Amino acid sequence: MKVRIKRHPKGVEEFEVEVSQKITLLELLYKVKEELDPTLAFRSMCRAGICGTCAVKLNGKPVLACSTWVSGEDLLVEPIDRFSVIKDLVVDHESVVKRLKDYSLWLRIGEGTISLQEDINRKTSRSWECILCGICDSVCPVLSESGLFGGPLTLTRLYKYLHDPRNAQQETTLKTLQNLKPELCTHCMNCSYACPKRLMPEGLIREEENLLVEKGLLQRQVGGFDFLSF
Ligand code: SF4
Ligand code: SF4
Ligand code: FES
Repeated sequence: MKVRIKRHPKGVEEFEVEVSQKITLLELLYKVKEELDPTLAFRSMCRAGICGTCAVKLNGKPVLACSTWVSGEDLLVEPIDRFSVIKDLVVDHESVVKRLKDYSLWLRIGEGTISLQEDINRKTSRSWECILCGICDSVCPVLSESGLFGGPLTLTRLYKYLHDPRNAQQETTLKTLQNLKPELCTHCMNCSYACPKRLMPEGLIREEENLLVEKGLLQRQVGGFDFLSF
């Protein structure tokens, strides 16, 4: 099997790998590293679609390498877009960690015990199943252009805290949502099509925007451009 890999800072290199059975893209990368070039750099941890570290682009489409089967000869592997590249396929996730810290995106529990009802669990499951792989942010055109927009990853992460009854600081969470400006999302759906866990971040962002309007914290644009309402 032939695979071309975009390596930073060297450029694209081609490798020919002996493959006798069906393999994943991550296994293919390991074969290149173990059999042909030990200097090849890429990230992986769980190999099971859980840790979110192995996101790369395969023939232009962002995927989790460990969850993607490969076949054929025409394979081009590149780092995901919008993140700075450290080496080869390894991108810098520091911007994600910084945003989670800057916006304090974690649960602040109050006194006493509050049980989590099944309906809340179901409602927030798309949020808590996010593995922070960064793929949605890598395909978001608004995030590339505007420093004001929080982006699909952060807004997906925040969603569960808006609905979790154990969150003792709902006001702060709503304020954070306001600061992340979900109204800047153009609803292009890139993030929803690309998310490997099928969490549909665009739908969560739409709900968050509606929540801000409901709470009187956001004015709907009269006569604004909202192509999904045509
Ligand atoms: S739907 Fe919104 S958040 Fe998702 S990629 Fe498009 S602009 Fe970005
Ligand atoms: S919402 Fe989906 S694409 Fe975005 S970080 Fe979470 S799992 Fe990855
Ligand atoms: S190695 Fe963990 S998601 Fe792929």
